[in-house]
Amino acid sequence: MKSKASAPGKVILFGEHFVVYGVKAILCAIDKRITVTAEKTKERKISIKSNIGKLELEPNKLISEINSPLKPFYYLADKIIKNYETGIKITVESDIPLGVGLGSSSACCVAGAAAISRLFSYATKEEILKLAIEAEKTIFENTSGADCTVCTYGGIMEYDKKNGFTKIKSKPNFHLVIANSNIEHSTETIVAGVREFKENNEEEFSRLCKEESKLIEDVLNELKTNNIIEIGKKVIQNQEYLEKIGISNNKLKEMVKIGHSESFGAKITGAGGGGCIFALTDDSNLNNTIKQFKNNKYDCFAVKIDFKGLDTF
Ligand code: MEV
Repeated sequence: MKSKASAPGKVILFGEHFVVYGVKAILCAIDKRITVTAEKTKERKISIKSNIGKLELEPNKLISEINSPLKPFYYLADKIIKNYETGIKITVESDIPLGVGLGSSSACCVAGAAAISRLFSYATKEEILKLAIEAEKTIFENTSGADCTVCTYGGIMEYDKKNGFTKIKSKPNFHLVIANSNIEHSTETIVAGVREFKENNEEEFSRLCKEESKLIEDVLNELKTNNIIEIGKKVIQNQEYLEKIGISNNKLKEMVKIGHSESFGAKITGAGGGGCIFALTDDSNLNNTIKQFKNNKYDCFAVKIDFKGLDTF
């Protein structure tokens, strides 16, 4: 018997990093997915195969002793098979570029939690999300939970740590052009760097949190009328706040400039330090934005919002 689940990647449109300190963020799921297949095996082992490698271990190992990006899958499988006699084989397929801020690890946790738990019994989306966040914490303890939430429910949403998520009702018709710096980053290290910035600059950080909150309330209003020009201006402004907290670098700044030249606005998405930026476009400037990135030799691709979220088969 097999159980299969897929979950979308994500883009943080506004509010990354500040969300860790209670500010609202706006996120959307994107039409690139991770698919996880789980099967019971007679041999009592947990084996995981993905395009970033393999992991095969007996159950009951200490999570802190496992040094592998596939650790969240092991955590989920080990937790779920505790009450059963079986082993488990997990296969991961991805069309989300890995480790560049597009939610590949959150999508893995969500699709993994769904495929593994549903192999044994029915689980609701709420239960799956709870498990997925627990699994994500094995690689990034201070997660705000925002990424797993949008990968579970899909669409575009506002999220804050205290109140969870609220789906945004309008269905904005924009394209995001994602460009990859090809600089790998560790979310945990960059979040720790922002914490240090906050501790050394309490007043400035608190002022930036207030400005980010105001910007997000404005965007929520502008989304109601699909005012892409005003939303683009907020993208540019949010990028300035991210530069102030020190998560940008020369390459990312250059990419933002290129993205901005033809689109409504461009910014880093996710942790920063490397990873991806996005440029906000519609049908009028999509192709020219892609051309600009390609002319400057940057990998890029266009995505739309995914409204499906977690899917199980
Ligand atoms: C990472 O995709 C987003 C951060 O805001 C961290 C988090 O929300 O957990 C940097």
